Formats: sequence, structure tokens, C-alpha cells
Amino acid sequence: MRNVNVRAFFGLVLLSMAAQVWSGVDVRFVSPADVAPDVSLVVPTVNGAPLAELDEDTRAVMVKAVSAAAFGKEAGTTLPLYGQSGRPMLLLVELGEEPLNGAALETLGGTVSNALLGNITSATVLLNGITLADGATLSRVALGSKLGGYRFDKYQTETDDAVPTDLTLELADTNAESLQQQWLINGQPLADAVYFSRDLISEPANIIYPESFVARVKAAFKGIDNVRIRVLDEKAMAKQGMEVLLGVGMGSARPPRLLVIEYKGAGDAKPLVFAGKGITFDTGGVSLKNPTGLWRMKYDMSGAAAVTGTLLALAGREANVNAVAIAALAENMASDRAQRPGDVRTSMSGKTVEVINTDAEGRLVLADAVWYAQTAFDPEVLVDIATLTGSVRVALGTHYAGMFSRQDVLATQFLAAGKASGEAVWRLPLNPAFVNAITSDIADVKNVVEGGSGGGASIGAEFIGSFVKPETPWVHFDIAGRAWEFEGNAVTPKGAAGFGIRLLNQFVADNYE
Ligand code: BES
Ligand code: MN
Ligand code: ZN
Repeated sequence: MRNVNVRAFFGLVLLSMAAQVWSGVDVRFVSPADVAPDVSLVVPTVNGAPLAELDEDTRAVMVKAVSAAAFGKEAGTTLPLYGQSGRPMLLLVELGEEPLNGAALETLGGTVSNALLGNITSATVLLNGITLADGATLSRVALGSKLGGYRFDKYQTETDDAVPTDLTLELADTNAESLQQQWLINGQPLADAVYFSRDLISEPANIIYPESFVARVKAAFKGIDNVRIRVLDEKAMAKQGMEVLLGVGMGSARPPRLLVIEYKGAGDAKPLVFAGKGITFDTGGVSLKNPTGLWRMKYDMSGAAAVTGTLLALAGREANVNAVAIAALAENMASDRAQRPGDVRTSMSGKTVEVINTDAEGRLVLADAVWYAQTAFDPEVLVDIATLTGSVRVALGTHYAGMFSRQDVLATQFLAAGKASGEAVWRLPLNPAFVNAITSDIADVKNVVEGGSGGGASIGAEFIGSFVKPETPWVHFDIAGRAWEFEGNAVTPKGAAGFGIRLLNQFVADNYE
């Protein structure tokens, strides 16, 4: 027994000592005139030909390699050359002939980070000569290199000294000064916010639960101006009548929380309110899930991570808007204290809910969160974002978030923000038929429709919508197919995607600044 305690104690000490092995990507813009002759170079090409000017030696080496490797046929491909023309490394990256939009520039940055991180510690990327699509800025290359260079290795203690753990990227362009300014003011805070959100999501559920989620968020906002953070504990929520949210957390020893972050950057303007599903672990409750892949349900708080990250980005870049994030935090456990299928509870709105399936818990916590949002804030726009249904992945796959709205104008704005930010959304229907389907036999509404009528993502959306006043401009995002990256791509390593911050930030920038 004592032995076990001692081991547990040292285990904890080790866990808290576990240092991040990898220390990340540093990025800054520099003038091409300042590029030293002996640094590693990243050379973007079109059909294998370099876009920026090169010294003769380097050009000669490159031309040979391009022809020997038949490089330059396919956009997105890379060719690394080591120890040539006095440079530790030369990395060729084929861009293709199309003008590059913001998302493609991020992909370029991410591709570079992934090719270099772990191989060398510094390199200069020659950005001169790239053809930009309308409105695109090279500052997006910096964002992409940060996003693609994200790693979560906090709990890996075995280091290999031969592998470099950091990377400094100099991005060389003639507009370096203004690009660097853009990056520091707008880009860096956005990248930091996505990192923060990915960290929260990647953390296991023994580390991140409602109270520790709140503590992390408070720490992250320390020293940032014009932000007010409030936390409703069980008592405060009970006082507000949030029985439906509280019901989801009942089965857990970790009590639920409602976290409210207010940012004021625009005087008395009505705020944009973002509500996020924050289930720190979803076992399904008594309607228990299958064990395969269940560990991944730590990411069921990705909506809450998205809304807090969005506020961090907006406040960090001092956006001229008023915005509020509401994180509905609970752990959905099965226990003797858990709610049961069939239980009826009264929501803050007064509407009664029959909990047919305890695994449809996201819509339950959001029912009270969106009602609270409307009564406490009178939102200019109300957005909720949630890993709500497996159905949305069946409908849209892993490339789009599902979008639901009663307001066509809002949907159009978000479609554009999705395209511009690289976080694509696709609109799915709301329909009175789905509302009829969730009418309960013994209460006002029920949380699921049993049987194979399909349309699960729309049913979830309509359930939340039944707590949104018809006059409230409202959008619901179902990000269950997007919140976890299964394969890994240039800007999103395998694991927590940190989806939604770039989308919401873009929506704000395009429509409210
Ligand atoms: N968190 C899940 C949804 C989910 C599934 C997210 C897969 C990410 C990947 C949600 O709480 C849930 O369990 N939804 C049920 C709803 C059903 C009971 C109506 C689902 O999708 O199966
Ligand atoms: Mn569930
Ligand atoms: Zn869930």
C-alpha cells in the first residue's frame, strides 16, 4: 500500500515535471538583402523554376537536382537537398501556376514547418515572386508555419538529443517591415489562440475538467485588457434554473461550470455571443458509448475551446468589437448519481425536457447556455459551436463543419468567412418537420428521436434552436467531423484541430470591423 502511494506520488511529480520536449517554431519577416550566404534556404518554385533570385552556385545545384528528380510537376511536393553550395539544407517547394489564396499560403508555411522541424534549427524562406490571389497576404505563410509546427509532446519524457526541437524561420520578402507588423498585430495572437485551444483539447480528461478548464482560461487571459471573466458554479447555475445543464454533470465527481468571458472593444455596441459545448469527457452517461475510440471523447469540449480561443484572439489583437464567450462545461459520466434515460428536467427557459438518451448531452448543456446568452446579453449575433453529432460526419465528411441558420444573410457571411479562413462550412437544413419530431409525449421536448428516420445533425440543431428566440440572429455549427484531425495535414498535425477560431475571427473581421 505504502509502495503504491510512493509510486503514485513520484508519478505525479514526474507528470508535473514532464517538460515540453519540443520548443516550437519562431517566425519573423526579414528583408531579402539581409539573407546570409550560408543559411539553409527554402525556395518556392513554379514548374521547378525558382521564383526569387538566387546566387549562381545555389541556382546551379538546384537546376541539376530539379532535372535529376523530375521535380516540379505537382504542387505541394518538396525536394530536400543537404550540404550543397555551402548551405546545410536547400528545400524546394513546388507551388504550381495558380495564384495563391490565403489558405494556400498557410499550406505553404505548414509544409515548410513539417519538412524542417526535427531536421534543422533555422532556415530562410524566399517569398519574393509568389503570385498572390486577390486580397491574399504573405502574412498567412507565417500563420501556416506556426499552425503546422504545433506539437503536443508534453508527456513524452524520452528525448533524443540528435533531433533538433526548435525551428527559426525567417520569411524573406521586400515588404518585410509591413508584413512583420501585420503578423505581430493580427497573426501572432490568432496563432497563439489556436495553440491554446489545441493544448486544452489535447490534454486528457484527468487533467482538463470543468474547474481546471476555467483555471487555464483565467491564466491565459491574465494581463489582457478589457476582459472580464465570470464563472457560474453549481449553486449559481441552480439559482438561474439551469437544471438541464446541471443534469448532464450530475454523474461526475467533477462539478459543471458555466464560464463567461466578456471582451469590450467597441463601447456600447451589442455583443457577438459565442457559446461552446464543453463536455470535458463524454462517456455517453448511462446511455453508455462503445469502448473503441472512446478515449478520444476528451475532445468533446472543442466547441468551448473554440469560443475561448476566439475571445483570446479578438482581445489579443484588440479588435474593435464587443464579444462574449460562454463555455458550457460538464463531464458526462455514468454513475449512481447520473441522470437516467427518461428523466424530465426543467430548463432555464421554463421549457421541460425529457432526456431520452443521456448521450445526446451537448444539446442539453447548450439549451441552457443559449438561453442564458439571450437573457444576459441581448446578442447582436448568437453563435453556438459544438461537437454535437456523429451524423454530421456522415453527411459532410471531415472537410466541412455543418452550419445551420434561420438567417440567410448570416449563413452567406459565414460561408464566405469559411472560404477566406480555410475553415470551410456547409449549410444544412433546419425544418419544422424536425421540430415536430422532438415533441415529447410527457414533456415539452425530448432530446433525441429514436428510430432510423435520419437527419440527426438537423434534429440536434432544431433542439438547440427550440431554445433560441425566433428574432435572435443565430447560427449553429456542428464540428463533430472537424474537431479531431485523424490523418494530419500541412496546417493541422494529427490530433486536436483547434477548429473554429479562424472561422469566427474571420467572420468578425469581415463583418464587424
Ligand atoms: N459527442 C458526441 C458526438 C460526437 C460523435 C462527436 C463522434 C465527435 C465524434 C455527442 O454527444 C453524441 O454522443 N451524439 C450522439 C447523438 C445521438 C445519441 C442522438 C451521436 O451522434 O451518436
Ligand atoms: Mn454524447
Ligand atoms: Zn458529446
